[in-house]
Amino acid sequence: MIYPIVKFGNPVLEKPAEKVTVFDEELKKLIEDMFESMYAARGVGLAAPQIGISRRIAVVDVTFKEDPDAKLVLINPEIIRKEGRHSQSEGCLSIPDFRENVGRAKEVTIRAQDVTGQVFEKTGDDLLARAFQHETDHLNGKLYINHISALKRDLIKRKIRKLVKAGEW
Ligand code: NI
Repeated sequence: MIYPIVKFGNPVLEKPAEKVTVFDEELKKLIEDMFESMYAARGVGLAAPQIGISRRIAVVDVTFKEDPDAKLVLINPEIIRKEGRHSQSEGCLSIPDFRENVGRAKEVTIRAQDVTGQVFEKTGDDLLARAFQHETDHLNGKLYINHISALKRDLIKRKIRKLVKAGEW
């Protein structure tokens, strides 16, 4: 099932999501649906709040279907190590058609649970590190625009308000 993507302005995007404690069939199905929804929206990462579900689940595939091993499920993820600094253009499916340069750690290690509840750690750099940080932020109710200057953030918010008024958001 493909879920519609929730857009900026919906409060679900700005509140911390609930920890996952039950690893059952329903969770597996939700994760399949999250991958399907992410690919349909042409994204490389998707957090559950972006489909209106406030639970600590994210899916990532920075290769966009090129490499099946790159499909990652992050349940209750935590960033446990950060290194370096790197600024690059970043966007979000919930803030469509906007992009900004965002400074992030260049290399990060994440600790998360998989679909069975098994804890694992994974280190990524560049785009994968960026995805880990962006998706973990989502689960904490934070968006990439929280990491840019107030001036740029206000400009984006103003443009979004116009789009809302025009019925185009
Ligand atoms: Ni996002």
